[in-house]
Amino acid sequence: MSVRIGQMTDIHVRDFSGMRLSDWFGKRMTGWVNYQSKRAKEYSAEVVAAGVARLVEERPDLVVVSGDLTNVGLETELVAALRLLAPLREAGVRTVVFPGNHDMYVTAATRGGFERVAADWQIADARGERPYPFVVRAGEVSCVCFNSAIPVPPVLAYGRLGRQQLDDAARLCAAERSLGQTLVFAVHHHATRAPERPAEWMRNLRDVAAFRRLAAEYGAVLVLHGHNHYEHTRRLREAPGVVVSGISSSTTTRTDPPPRRGQIGMYELDGAALLGVGVADWDGARFGQWRWTTPSDIPVESEHESLAGG
Ligand SMILES: [Fe+2]
Repeated sequence: MSVRIGQMTDIHVRDFSGMRLSDWFGKRMTGWVNYQSKRAKEYSAEVVAAGVARLVEERPDLVVVSGDLTNVGLETELVAALRLLAPLREAGVRTVVFPGNHDMYVTAATRGGFERVAADWQIADARGERPYPFVVRAGEVSCVCFNSAIPVPPVLAYGRLGRQQLDDAARLCAAERSLGQTLVFAVHHHATRAPERPAEWMRNLRDVAAFRRLAAEYGAVLVLHGHNHYEHTRRLREAPGVVVSGISSSTTTRTDPPPRRGQIGMYELDGAALLGVGVADWDGARFGQWRWTTPSDIPVESEHESLAGG
């Protein structure tokens, strides 16, 4: 029986009402300036609501919201983001969330606030002793959800999973595989490099090589991610059976060529195989029809794109 997984990402919901006086002298201040100068013109809650409505119509088995629900990691923003996503759960569509770098913008945001506010959106079928990774099952597919977000200095946006999380993930992957489950990984930061996106060192996943080894070793058929605000789908050089798919932001009103348009994603799996990667683009008024790609049409990453080393 086929399993469908929908994706929204980088919805960056705005609500600065939770800013405290001290925030105006820290990293959140630079985030606020950045938002006002660039993102306020581009990000729209209407696009997010349209994406939610579309996924409610489609009724996939699972929806993954792959990080960056907020702008500066405020609880007020997270509450507003979950309110926008609520129609999915109200319609009975299982939906999970985990953080992106903007949700762990400052150290204060890493003290469990995200997990407390979003507890109902992180109900797992399996997990270790720590909050991440956690596993959600949809039929014979097990989706392993990671947290790659760490607070970093202003302007930087890199991430790290850490040895502990990778070790916990290996244990969970082995257990799911022994149940006969097919593995999908979900993470915020990218596992392949889109050459069109500059300054990789400022925004990469620092332990991406170990993450890719894990995906290859346990035979994950799909790694879905956000972060880049750029559509990029490739198969790993060292393990071509692993498809890595990143879609653009699900809140942007941009209607320039597809890689940077507002997007939502859909993945179809059957048994131990990925059947197709679907992307729907925002056309200025609605999300259009799915553009489907079959794995055999997805290129293997070039040497230039690969992040396998290290
Ligand atoms: Fe983002």
